[in-house]
Amino acid sequence: MKEIGIAIIGHGFMGHEHEAMLTRLEGYRVVGISDRDPEQLADVKEGIKRYSANEELFADPEVEVVLIAANNNQHHDLVIQAAQAGKDIICEKPVAMNTKELEEMEQVVKECGVKFTVHHQRRYDQDFRIIKEVYDQGALGEVYTLKNSLYGFNGNMHDWHVSISEGGGMLYDWGVHLLDQVLWMMPGAKIKSVFADVRNVINFEVDDYFKILLRFDNGVTAEVELGTYFLTDKMQEKWFERHWFIGGNKGSAYVDGFEPEGKIVRTSHLLTNVAGQRTMTAAGPTRSFGPPPEGRIVTEDVPGIDTCHEDYFRNYHQAYCGEGEFLVKISETRRVLALMEAVRKSAKSEESVRFEE
Ligand SMILES: NC(=O)c1ccc[n+]([C@@H]2O[C@H](COP(=O)([O-])OP(=O)(O)OC[C@H]3O[C@@H](n4cnc5c(N)ncnc54)[C@H](O)[C@@H]3O)[C@@H](O)[C@H]2O)c1
Repeated sequence: MKEIGIAIIGHGFMGHEHEAMLTRLEGYRVVGISDRDPEQLADVKEGIKRYSANEELFADPEVEVVLIAANNNQHHDLVIQAAQAGKDIICEKPVAMNTKELEEMEQVVKECGVKFTVHHQRRYDQDFRIIKEVYDQGALGEVYTLKNSLYGFNGNMHDWHVSISEGGGMLYDWGVHLLDQVLWMMPGAKIKSVFADVRNVINFEVDDYFKILLRFDNGVTAEVELGTYFLTDKMQEKWFERHWFIGGNKGSAYVDGFEPEGKIVRTSHLLTNVAGQRTMTAAGPTRSFGPPPEGRIVTEDVPGIDTCHEDYFRNYHQAYCGEGEFLVKISETRRVLALMEAVRKSAKSEESVRFEE
């Protein structure tokens, strides 16, 4: 198997993750790592070069691919420099701070003729792949609603992630993943409109909460919600909450958690024109929202999907060696950035924004 010589720029949280994964994966050799803060290189594994500057990394003929894992506001310049050095590039998400930056990067990448993709490894999250499989199977009939949400208790973000100028905030951090998942799940569907609420609930500079509603031309309205200070007592055990929900006219499905648990849920027969039974509740009588009669709710297991983040680099290796394509296309990342611009516009104007029409 070909060994791709890869170098990492940025040896922080994600740089360490990449170093660990790529040194255990077949088909890669981590040639070296650079970081503008030399202290970050103190624990680079034995056998891997420590570059004292990015220029040294770019000049190293053993490096075929540069993996950029530096702060978000560095991606633009680093991608351009790597391309000009003739290196192929994997850039961390968000690929750029905005579409204008990305267009400039794409231009140089094209001129230099290098390969360029983005680390959207959350397309291989198990919870996502399971709900995607349910959607792809079409078992829920016509889907009308889809929800992708993530909640945590610790609204305080850290380091540069609290600085706007460096690309901090949860939209850039997790929003980019959650939106990418929804768009990639329904690749043929166009977004007609976007309504968003983006807030700094307990942070001073950067967003730490958002609710985004996307109206698609396939009839689906998707809700993407993230709260970093969104408290329930269930978090005592789980420390975060991760949920997917899809509703169709032939059933619903949910998948919860990163170690996912989910079900497809249907009624024993469709309830069109079934007369409602009068039920007394503590909040008064109801004919529509009483408990379901015995046997009315039936469940099926969601499909089991075996996948993990290493699959991202397996796909990369295959595509790099000419078998198939990179999973993540730059045009898809451009669409996500454009959507995030519409999200911010809607949040600012407090109005919905037309998109892709
Ligand atoms: N795909 C994912 O799941 C995921 C998860 C976390 C972070 N990220 C992304 O990874 C990137 C890094 O985030 P992080 O949380 O690891 O940050 P971090 O602060 O932990 O690490 C970033 C490192 O890059 C170094 N750096 C910054 N600019 C540099 C430059 N011009 N040249 C060399 N080194 C430079 C910093 O000194 C730091 O050590 C961001 O783009 C972030 O969005 C992706």
